[in-house]
Amino acid sequence: MKLMVIPPPLFVLAAGPLLASCNSSGTERDFERMVNQAHYEYYEETSFFEDRRVMREPPPGTVPNDRRLGPSEILHGTASGKFVEAIPVPLSRPRMDEGRKRFEVFCAPCHGVGGDGVSVVAHNMELRKPPSLVAAPVLEYPAGRIYQAIAQGYGLMPSYGQDFSVEARWAIVAYVRALQLRTNGVAVDALPEPVRVRMQKELR
Ligand code: HEC
Repeated sequence: MKLMVIPPPLFVLAAGPLLASCNSSGTERDFERMVNQAHYEYYEETSFFEDRRVMREPPPGTVPNDRRLGPSEILHGTASGKFVEAIPVPLSRPRMDEGRKRFEVFCAPCHGVGGDGVSVVAHNMELRKPPSLVAAPVLEYPAGRIYQAIAQGYGLMPSYGQDFSVEARWAIVAYVRALQLRTNGVAVDALPEPVRVRMQKELR
């Protein structure tokens, strides 16, 4: 197809009436923009529904399409209404590294890089200081309770449920456990065989 080039003066002549029609009546042309369309605000009243509420309840049985399905101990850190003691997902070096990365970005500003509750935020938080995660009572918490603090928040601490997948939350719990071990030490007998052998050899 051959393009026809309109010289500028002719273009103005041709487009002039079109442009003028937008504003000829002195009012803006109505493009039916969504922001201007008739709509309800939250909590407004309506005569359309019998109960006069604009906001509707989802039909019974509706589930969010992004809801994770799976065992409660993994999704919520609880089994039969009790916190799980141990971390219910397999641990690996990459998972620990992920936990560390996320802990240092999201938790350390308040709880300290070592989890000991020493941070600038803690120093300045008057009402309730972020507690040490590596001393009692958090040290004695079952893994599920730490998981729940991340997933749902706790008291003055906001929830980080939206920020992390289920796996990432457990990765953080695992890293908190590692910090606890680092701070409080671990019985030599409790070390896995290869680590114990290597340690005993190197420290001799
Ligand atoms: C904005 C600061 C802040 C950040 C960030 C923060 N916390 Fe907290 N955290 C707190 C405060 C404050 C409390 C004590 C809340 C209270 O007792 O009202 C707390 C409490 C806790 C507890 C104890 C909960 C209980 O059941 O007693 C745990 C565990 C915890 N935080 C873990 C974390 C982890 C893991 C992260 C990172 C994902 C994190 N926190 C991020 C401020 C923070």
